[in-house]
Amino acid sequence: LDKWDRLDRSGRDQAVGRFQSNGAPLTSSPHEQAAEFDEPDFEAKTSTGFTVIPEFSHMARARPVEAGERIFRRAYNYQGPPVGDELSESGLIFVSYQADVERQFVPIQRRLDELDLLNEWTTPIGSAVFALPPGCAEGGFIGDTLLT
Ligand code: HEM
Repeated sequence: LDKWDRLDRSGRDQAVGRFQSNGAPLTSSPHEQAAEFDEPDFEAKTSTGFTVIPEFSHMARARPVEAGERIFRRAYNYQGPPVGDELSESGLIFVSYQADVERQFVPIQRRLDELDLLNEWTTPIGSAVFALPPGCAEGGFIGDTLLT
């Protein structure tokens, strides 16, 4: 995050594809009325012909290309003590829940691997996959659809 902090606000907005101030897509305007859950417009162009939401932005690359690719995300930030000359030892534990890792998570991760400006500031340090049993209705028990 040391280098990320040296990037100006507009550079950070471009890298993600959203305004850092309120999470709204870069195509929401006027900015003051923009809201996090506004639908982004990936076709909108600037006066110079570039897309308003950069094609290399994390949002443009990560967005599911088909409905079946949608994942449920949770992010856990961590902040450790400084190491050496670094100002921060911070990171994000990215967690996603999906029915099928190969069909849903992997295609997104591949796109981010090929092109994602955010990669400039992030360093993957590990990963793991866990199998979770399905939930249950009231009166049932976790995994009952598998076990009964
Ligand atoms: C350090 C790693 C990461 C950071 C800091 C990060 C950050 C962000 C941010 C700021 C957003 C926009 C706000 C939001 O929708 O939550 C976002 C969206 C998203 N990210 Fe990440 N992300 C990371 C890793 C990943 C990974 C590994 C994946 C999947 C392989 C992923 C998939 C997504 C998806 C699907 C979206 C929603 C895009 C949309 O439809 O708007 N991200 N991420």
